[in-house]
Amino acid sequence: MPVDPLLRATAVDAVLRAGAVQLQHFRRDVHVQRKTSSIDLVTQVDVAVEREFRACIAERFPSHQVLGEEFSTEIGAEPAAGPCWVFDPLDGTTNFAHGLPIFCASLGLEIDGVAVLGAVYDATRGDLFVAERGQGATWNGVPIRVSRAQRLGDAMLCTGFPYDIHQTRDDVVGLFSEFVGQARAVRRLGSAALDLCYVAAGWFDGFWEARLKPWDTCAGALIVEEAGGSVTRWDGSPYQSRALGLVASNGGIHAAMLGVIAGFGARRARQRTE
Ligand code: IPD
Ligand code: CA
Ligand code: CA
Repeated sequence: MPVDPLLRATAVDAVLRAGAVQLQHFRRDVHVQRKTSSIDLVTQVDVAVEREFRACIAERFPSHQVLGEEFSTEIGAEPAAGPCWVFDPLDGTTNFAHGLPIFCASLGLEIDGVAVLGAVYDATRGDLFVAERGQGATWNGVPIRVSRAQRLGDAMLCTGFPYDIHQTRDDVVGLFSEFVGQARAVRRLGSAALDLCYVAAGWFDGFWEARLKPWDTCAGALIVEEAGGSVTRWDGSPYQSRALGLVASNGGIHAAMLGVIAGFGARRARQRTE
C-alpha cells in the first residue's frame, strides 16, 4: 500500500531542502571540524541541515522519532518502535569539505523497524532517488532497475572505507584487493548513500562496506531492494539498518560477493592463529 502522500512529500522536500543548503555553502564557506577521529569531519552545514529537519518533523509529526547523524547520541541495537526518520544531512562530508562534488542528503522512514520510504538527493547533479516499499524506485521520476551482470568479471563494484581505517587498514585494503583481483573495476566514491543508489540504477553492479551507520544505508537499501536488487549483511543474513557490514547488489552477483568476503575472512582468521 502506498505511504501517506504527506510522508512522501516530507521526505522529498527534506532532501531537496538539504541539497539547497549544501549548494549555498559548497566551495564557498565550509567550516570543518574533527569529530570522533582526525579523519571523521563535520561542517556547519551537516549540523544546520539536521537541526532544520528536526524542527520540521517536530512541527509536522511531533510523535515521530528522528535518528540523525549529528544529534542522536545513541543508535540502539534494534530499530525504534513506531515511525522513525533516519537522516544523514550530508553523506560524503569529506568530499564536501574538500570541494569534491560527490555528496548527498539521505532520508529513510522506518515504521516499527521496517523501511517504508527512502529519498536521496545529490544536489550537484540534480539526481533525486525515491523508493516506497512495494512501489518501486525512481531516479528523477523515472523507474529504475538494477543491472543484469551475472559474473564478478563483468561487474563494476564500489566500496567505502570506514573512519577507523587507520586501525583496520589491513582488513579493509586486503578485502578491497580481493575484489580488485576479481571484478572488472572497483570504485570508492565517498558517499555510501549514493553508492547504493547507483547500484539501484544499474550504474554499479555491487557495493560492500564495513561498519556503516543506519543513516548511511536506511534509504539506499530500500531503493536497491525496490529496484530489484539484494541487500544483506556480510554473512548473507537479512539486512536491517542497525547492522554494520552491508552488501548490496543486482542479485546476480550477490552470492559471488558474499563468497569473496567469506573467503577473505577465513584466510585472515587462519593467518591470525598461525
Ligand atoms: C561516510 C560516507 C563514506 C563511507 C563512510 C561514511 P559521512 O558518511 O558515506 O562513503 O565510506 O563509512 O561514514 O560521514 O560522509 O556522512
Ligand atoms: Ca554518512
Ligand atoms: Ca553525514
